[in-house]
Amino acid sequence: MDNFTLTVQRSQPGQESLPSRAEFSVPVIAESMSVLDAMLWARANEDPSLAFRCACRVGMCGSCGVRINGREGLACKTLVSTELEYGGPTIEVEPLRHLPVVRDLVTDPGNFYRRLTDVVPNFQPVDLDAAPVAIAPGSPERMTINPHRECIYCGLCYSACSMAGEDREFLGPAAFNRVFALVSDSRDDAGAERLNAVDGSSGIWSCHTIFECTAVCPKGVPITLAIQGLKRKHFFRKMKSLFRLGRGS
Ligand code: FES
Repeated sequence: MDNFTLTVQRSQPGQESLPSRAEFSVPVIAESMSVLDAMLWARANEDPSLAFRCACRVGMCGSCGVRINGREGLACKTLVSTELEYGGPTIEVEPLRHLPVVRDLVTDPGNFYRRLTDVVPNFQPVDLDAAPVAIAPGSPERMTINPHRECIYCGLCYSACSMAGEDREFLGPAAFNRVFALVSDSRDDAGAERLNAVDGSSGIWSCHTIFECTAVCPKGVPITLAIQGLKRKHFFRKMKSLFRLGRGS
């Protein structure tokens, strides 16, 4: 059984100095071994104090998001064999960017969630008393919304986004994606409020459209498409209001 080197960035709560790196020699126990399996092996066999999050281990809960060889990924969905083939003989794991590190690979997602709440992320029905209406499967509306509902709020897009590092108030890709899914839904009644929420200096206009968020999304959500869709909706809303003003004058 071959071994490889797993390097993990480590830091303690309240630590003043720069984070350190710990190296573990980990056996490749199966072709299907994930980076999370390697982290669990290191914790079980080398250092029980190694801190990281995980829950489902099947890419559903989003809790195991980290940076693996410099790129955001879910540790449970990233294969050791793939990383060794394309990333070299060492696998380096670091915490997500733009969020405070609590310890080792554990980050505090508070700011990520706060930005989500800024955009009114809950569905608000047009008529509270009306019976629920289904959007027909295969209809253009359903096809528009569906890919954007796959988000698991893992925060990988937020970590990959360079604007989130520049501006702590920047709403971020996950919030934009959620807004696009809701404003595309004809049963929802808070579209105008949401479009206003993403219109400020920390909103969609600060996105540089460099696809970092879309490239790392583990669910293949077309986040950049959502952001462009929101810009288009803003454009048409503005044109409509200008047109109305012109007719009124
Ligand atoms: Fe749930 Fe990885 S442990 S997504």
